Amino acid sequence: MKTSALVVAFLAPFISSLVLLAQGPSLTIQVDRPAGKVSPTFYGLMTEEINYSYDGGLYAELVRDRAIGRGFGSLVHWPMVARGNSQVSVTADETTGPSAVLTRSLKVNVAAAGKDAPAGVENDGYWGIAVRPNTVYNGSFYAKTDSPGLQVHVSLENDRTGLVAASTDVPGLTGEWTRYTYRLRTGEVAVSSNNHLILTIAQPATVWFNLISLFPPTYHNRPGGNRDDIMNLLAAMHPKFLRFPGGNYLEGDHIAERFDWKKTIGPWVDRPTHQSPWRYHSSDGMGLLEFLEWCEDLKMEPVLAVYAGYSLEQEHVDPGPALDQYVQDALDEIEYATGGADTKWGAERAKDGHPAPFLLHYVEIGNEDQFDRSHSYDGRFAQFYHAIKERYPNLQIIATTPVKSVTPDVLDEHFYMPAEQSFREAHHYDNADRSGPKIFVGEWATREGDPTPNLEAALADAAWLTGLERNSDLVIMASYAPLFVNVNPGGMQWAPDLIGYDALTSYGSPSYWTQVMFSMHLGTAIVPATLSNAGPRVFASATRDDAKRKVYVKVVNATSTAQPLAISLSGVAKLAPQAALTTMSGKTPNATNSITNPRTVVPVTRKVPIAGSKFIQTFAPYSVNVLELSY
Ligand code: AHR
Repeated sequence: MKTSALVVAFLAPFISSLVLLAQGPSLTIQVDRPAGKVSPTFYGLMTEEINYSYDGGLYAELVRDRAIGRGFGSLVHWPMVARGNSQVSVTADETTGPSAVLTRSLKVNVAAAGKDAPAGVENDGYWGIAVRPNTVYNGSFYAKTDSPGLQVHVSLENDRTGLVAASTDVPGLTGEWTRYTYRLRTGEVAVSSNNHLILTIAQPATVWFNLISLFPPTYHNRPGGNRDDIMNLLAAMHPKFLRFPGGNYLEGDHIAERFDWKKTIGPWVDRPTHQSPWRYHSSDGMGLLEFLEWCEDLKMEPVLAVYAGYSLEQEHVDPGPALDQYVQDALDEIEYATGGADTKWGAERAKDGHPAPFLLHYVEIGNEDQFDRSHSYDGRFAQFYHAIKERYPNLQIIATTPVKSVTPDVLDEHFYMPAEQSFREAHHYDNADRSGPKIFVGEWATREGDPTPNLEAALADAAWLTGLERNSDLVIMASYAPLFVNVNPGGMQWAPDLIGYDALTSYGSPSYWTQVMFSMHLGTAIVPATLSNAGPRVFASATRDDAKRKVYVKVVNATSTAQPLAISLSGVAKLAPQAALTTMSGKTPNATNSITNPRTVVPVTRKVPIAGSKFIQTFAPYSVNVLELSY
């Protein structure tokens, strides 16, 4: 090769870099020109009882239908157990229950039984009961018997092997409804989910049960608390708030099936349970206090949605005197959350075990009230707004659809989109009016993938999030929905959902990881990030954190080819010579995670060299990226 050819070959990469810097795809970041402050409440969680989110999900209760038949029709989860030549019948007894609200019970009538031939009842849990080695499970039940002194044997047994993982005896039952507690401790057993909880007696007798319960160890060891694995997935999202209890779950199909918070507090025996609009019955173990404690555990702000007089089957309460009781319920609810122990409802909360008030800044009036065909929301909202502001002037009041008679502090807008729309809507708020209410994107999702979103959805989500982040002076909060799904057959009512699980394990979808990446790398100021010549499927946003001296650049490459970008940052004197580049990518947009392959698409972080404030960085095909630069 001639010397001149060698020189050309040697210089070619530099020349193409120069060409790229001069006229190729580029990203210009004006670090010293903040376009606004990132809202301190920006990324959060939205939740409701859907897809077995709490029962059979986050709420760690292992026993299904613990309130005996409420909403389950027959006793499908309570078959009889008859060992040897024992004889037993199991029925629902409508004539006796442990409280004024739980008025039926599981009647176990044993006609013949003995030590070697016990009889009783068993429960299959939520698609199985998870058993782990060397673990303590805390249980309880209410019972009464016609044979005082009766002993109940409780065990956890493997369906396939018949192996007893743990067992104990609860002696001394009486003729009066009484609560009994028990503890099951496993030894060196294999991890499994195909187990039953079994309660038997070894003599002829009748015993009535209700609220049979069993909990594994929970997050922060809260009695009656949440599943550790799922809470850890949530903690990794660094959520700033929790919007609860819905969603449609707040409204119910009918007014009588709304989230009637006063029926969800106190001992379980005082909670009547209720039908959810998502076609199954809620135990209400996850009641108002449990939601607030969930916030406390993850240091999230509660965004408390109060029932506002509209239910899904087009039932509504007219504004005016008829609505007063619901407004009062909302005021009481706020007092339960925030009042001192010297207030009526604050005292109730203290009695329920939480003397300290919770911090609350946001209250949402209803949910998706644009679907109320009576168009009563304007009046209903105003009535709630005035009553709440009068008593709690500092609370920020969120409307679920635009209203005219009063200006809400915040407006909740929902977006469920196919991927193409999410890509398009990435610029939805770029030129939005800044003079009206702040925006809460209280529910959003790209609807691709089932039961959990695939990489295509995650790419579209990430593109959409660059738009929300760029406008996070206006969009003060954002939360994906739905959050959870039990992936077992029959567990899902809505797809896709961010986090999937079964009785034993849980996993984050690619969309989940997108949110982890975005929320872990969020500055305090929005920094203009302008793309040129990059094509319609490349997206970017940037934020800056002065205290940490970091610039976080998010780049989404939703194309099938690697995307080089000439990146230039203005307004920073000196950048550290290395940056951290976190990338989540996959071979095809259909790549996904599942309960059996939970980590196919996950972010990976590596160090990349940075040659000053102008450099070229290439982003992988189908990738979501965060570049963390130090200055
Ligand atoms: O997220 C599922 C449902 O979508 C919510 O319950 C409702 O608010 C919306 O329509």
